[in-house]
Amino acid sequence: MSEMRIVLFGAGGYGDVYVQSLLKDHCRENYVLAGVVDPYIDRAPGREALRQAGVPVFDTPEAFYREHAADLAVIATPIPLHEEQACFALEQGSHVLLEKPIAATAEAGRRIAQKARECGRVLAVGFQWCYDRAMLELKADFDAGRLGAPLDVRALVLWPRDFAYYGRGTGWAGKKRDAQGREIYDSVASNATAHYLENMLWLTGREFQGAAITDFACETWRANDIETYDTAVLLAQLDNGAKLTYVVSHAVEPGEMQNPVFEYRFEKGVARFGGLGQTGSELTFTFEDGQVKRYGVTHPDSREKIWTMMDVLREGAKLPCPAEAALRHADAIEKMRERRPEAYVFRNIARNSERVWVPGLGAKLIRCYKERMLLSQAGEERV
Ligand SMILES: NC(=O)c1ccc[n+]([C@@H]2O[C@H](COP(=O)([O-])OP(=O)(O)OC[C@H]3O[C@@H](n4cnc5c(N)ncnc54)[C@H](O)[C@@H]3O)[C@@H](O)[C@H]2O)c1
Repeated sequence: MSEMRIVLFGAGGYGDVYVQSLLKDHCRENYVLAGVVDPYIDRAPGREALRQAGVPVFDTPEAFYREHAADLAVIATPIPLHEEQACFALEQGSHVLLEKPIAATAEAGRRIAQKARECGRVLAVGFQWCYDRAMLELKADFDAGRLGAPLDVRALVLWPRDFAYYGRGTGWAGKKRDAQGREIYDSVASNATAHYLENMLWLTGREFQGAAITDFACETWRANDIETYDTAVLLAQLDNGAKLTYVVSHAVEPGEMQNPVFEYRFEKGVARFGGLGQTGSELTFTFEDGQVKRYGVTHPDSREKIWTMMDVLREGAKLPCPAEAALRHADAIEKMRERRPEAYVFRNIARNSERVWVPGLGAKLIRCYKERMLLSQAGEERV
């Protein structure tokens, strides 16, 4: 393929990361940013840089495709738009790199995957850990049997979020549906900390197909005035035999912030990233005899997704995050929603002008993570 034509849907919010990469990263030259689709471009931080680079901006995908073609559409728009925009781009002949989660529901995700098959186009999902060099090395060791079978995989993320987070963009955060009735189901588990649930399923699945949940218990909770939940605990059994523990929250007080920690126990040792009270950077595997394999510092950023997608399209490289892998995450989220259609409301909520939080929640969630228990079992009270 000669020069690759790329269109970006959504230039603000997370889309700005793509704007910066596509405009400023010169390690790959053989592409052109053929256009940007964003009806609110005036709010995008990169609008001036896009203007200076001469990148045309359109209000709708239809307007872009009326005048241009694109080999690749990168879609970083709000979740309720994923299905409609991804299917449209595929129908126009573009391959698609779609931001996570694949869609608001697993069914919608499957419809996008079906559309990609019908159109004969590649559909990649933007869970960046799947594209990270260190993580891919660990994955290769798992696939080659060097880690043994997965036994117990756990992840903990406590990221406080304020009112500005929930009010951002077009106001879809924490909602079940938008004003047009389109499904959203945005939550702490489908959005900001989605990566850490997806990673456990992806890493321990066969090749890049992901593992599935066969049995589970879960609780979802909220302190914020949202329709979904800002705190979740999922204790699951996977079809590969492993137990999964996923503990995440946006409702802890800032002093209890905990960057992602994960600990994955396999027959032959333990993979680790981060630790309690620490911010992780390095991925390691400690074998039973104490030997440590260092996979190096992780760089799960957006650039790898774009360059990998180019390699997939140009050289037939293997796509590490196909729809099948992302659908495992969507299935898990849906199971949680079916089991807990309404979140519990925390009894003890503190607030100031910026945010709400639940005093002491972080310590209880750490207990859930360590002892594999639900939050109510750790003593949290609901209304
Ligand atoms: N991979 C990651 O780490 C990561 C991080 C944050 C968000 N995301 C994902 O990125 C996506 C966008 O999330 P966000 O928080 O940036 O959302 P956002 O509400 O900030 O919007 C992103 C951009 O989409 C634009 N937009 C709105 N309606 C549009 C339309 N009809 N057509 C084209 N553009 C439109 C907005 O103007 C904005 O510039 C979501 O899928 C989210 O889960 C991924």
